[in-house]
Amino acid sequence: MKRVAILISGGGSNMVSLVDDMTGDHPCRPVLVLSNVPEAGGLAKAAARGIETQVIDHTQFPKDRVAFEAALHATLLAASPDIVCLAGFMRILSPEFMAKWDGKMLNIHPSLLPKYRGLHTHQRAIDAGDAEHGCTVHEVTAELDGGPVLGQATVAISAGDTAETLAAKVLPFEHQLYPAVLRRYAQGDRTIVRLGT
Ligand code: GAR
Repeated sequence: MKRVAILISGGGSNMVSLVDDMTGDHPCRPVLVLSNVPEAGGLAKAAARGIETQVIDHTQFPKDRVAFEAALHATLLAASPDIVCLAGFMRILSPEFMAKWDGKMLNIHPSLLPKYRGLHTHQRAIDAGDAEHGCTVHEVTAELDGGPVLGQATVAISAGDTAETLAAKVLPFEHQLYPAVLRRYAQGDRTIVRLGT
């Protein structure tokens, strides 16, 4: 069994979709859910599922990314994860930190990478007049939102879409895509998963 740690900052709906898939013949089990936000709604959802939770509050490390990441790294190491999934983890990690988890860390991003790295992806896709949008699961490398793509789901953008309606269309695909990629990745299969239109 592969041990999976999941990093969150918010509601944790992607974390829940990953955790709830890790049963039966799944090659992984969740061992830790870690948040940088003490109030993150996902923490209670993880605890309710019997998973260890930890908080490393970045505000306790003002202007000291090195110390924050050292605490994050130590807490992760203590759980001995084989794979770390970023699931709505909204802190930018340094290239040095990401290099430590090279080949073991995945992220989900709400755009069709390489389009729209960073924030406000739904609005940017609308503003660009794109016909399609979606989400991507990729391996984390030292480059922000830049590692090899492992899966993508596409959705059509409709004329009346706002950032909110588009986010609501993409999210259910995130919940399908991330578990599908994790299953493959844990078995050493990096074939790209494609979902959606
Ligand atoms: C998801 O839409 C995820 O793709 C996005 O944050 C949301 C978290 O929701 N991640 C990023 O924007 C990463 N840059 P969740 O907490 O319900 O999973």
